[in-house]
Amino acid sequence: MKVTFIGHGYVGLVTAAVFADFGNTVYVIGHTKEKIDNLKKGIIPIFESGLAELVRKNVDAGRLHFTLDYTPAIPHSDIVFIAVGTPPLATGEADLSTIFEVVEKIGKHLSGYTVVATKSTVPVRTNRKIREILDKEKKKDASFDLASTPEFLREGTAISDTLAPDRVVIGTDSERAQKVLVELHKPIETQIILTNIETAEMIKYASNSFLATKISYANAIAKLSELTGADGLKVLEGMGMDNRINNKFLSPGAGYGGSCFPKDVQALISISREYGYDFGLLREVERINQEAIMDIVQKAEKMLSTLEGKTVGILGLAFKPNTDDMRDAPSIDIIRELLDRGAKVKAYDPEAVKVAATKIKGIEFAKSAREAVEGADILLLLTEWNDFRKMDPGEIKKLMRGKAVVDARNIWDPSEMRKLGFEYIGVGR
Ligand code: UGA
Repeated sequence: MKVTFIGHGYVGLVTAAVFADFGNTVYVIGHTKEKIDNLKKGIIPIFESGLAELVRKNVDAGRLHFTLDYTPAIPHSDIVFIAVGTPPLATGEADLSTIFEVVEKIGKHLSGYTVVATKSTVPVRTNRKIREILDKEKKKDASFDLASTPEFLREGTAISDTLAPDRVVIGTDSERAQKVLVELHKPIETQIILTNIETAEMIKYASNSFLATKISYANAIAKLSELTGADGLKVLEGMGMDNRINNKFLSPGAGYGGSCFPKDVQALISISREYGYDFGLLREVERINQEAIMDIVQKAEKMLSTLEGKTVGILGLAFKPNTDDMRDAPSIDIIRELLDRGAKVKAYDPEAVKVAATKIKGIEFAKSAREAVEGADILLLLTEWNDFRKMDPGEIKKLMRGKAVVDARNIWDPSEMRKLGFEYIGVGR
């Protein structure tokens, strides 16, 4: 099959490379010359394990093409996937301007019959607007059907998530489009849910918001456990053993971040409001998340009495391990608050320092974990990279000036840390 992806972010690039690897001819259309030139050489703009190799392999095999031009791709494609960003506006609604811009261009280039499928996360009913634009722009003899095929991959495990997802969701009102999309997804062995467009769009928002709700629930239970003297991690472990609940996305910490959960929770609140429903549960999920982020600073301040003039060593800046993504990373809010309270900050992340330096000002970026820890009055562990788990806490103790540690991802054993002479505090215990 011939497939085009508009957009080469996590979703577009990973899915395009995987479909090319299945033997399809895949075009990826971008709008920045430098990025497209780099992609042609196999230089990818994101850090994702195994992706550069998969892209290079399929470019070399002549199955994966990168272009700025819609002309060689769209008229010959069986399916066009829209995979551009939908960042939040100040109001919390998703910004759909890029979607509508690219849809206009797709419309102008349609030829014969094409399935136009949305992979970007868009509010319910966006597809109606897409249909209007395509109808207006397309040539008379071109025809199309619309579909929604939301993506569930996670950064850091994007390729394996795409190859073995829990489910594939195909939403369309056309039998012909359904057939084409089922055929494309055949090499993926999983359950397929076939439904209409609105339902598919809603499945994506409902899933991400539910996972965010689980995390906020875990953070609330962790806080309550700290206050009552219960062991929050044991409480959550005990809850997770009930397979109606399960233990996934039940780890408390410095709150959820990234380019999806914060944006999608906000967007679902906005969508609800638009339809006259106040989704109060999700407003509370957001509030608890912000509280969990700020709680890390409060713990640090409590341990040192004041943060004024203190040196804070930070390990981990990315919103989660195995990515260099800093979008909505809890570390950004935490560092801003530390600086406001007069602290000096030295931070290290195995992959995200370069990106972080464009978002965070007024701190020192260390070249190694050792350097970040050296001379620190307090250490904050914000992202659970394996590199940090491998460090010897005894050595950390020797390098630090102080002995306070806030372990926001519970990677260390509290009693061992205390034995080594640390004043240690985690989340929920
Ligand atoms: C999330 C979803 O998990 C994917 O299914 C979805 O496709 C994606 O959003 C998207 O909409 O594109 P992602 O944002 O890459 O994926 O990362 P997650 O692994 O879900 O982590 C999100 C945040 O939750 C991170 O900040 C992480 O630290 C936090 N988290 C996760 C916790 O605090 N506790 C947990 O138990 C799990």
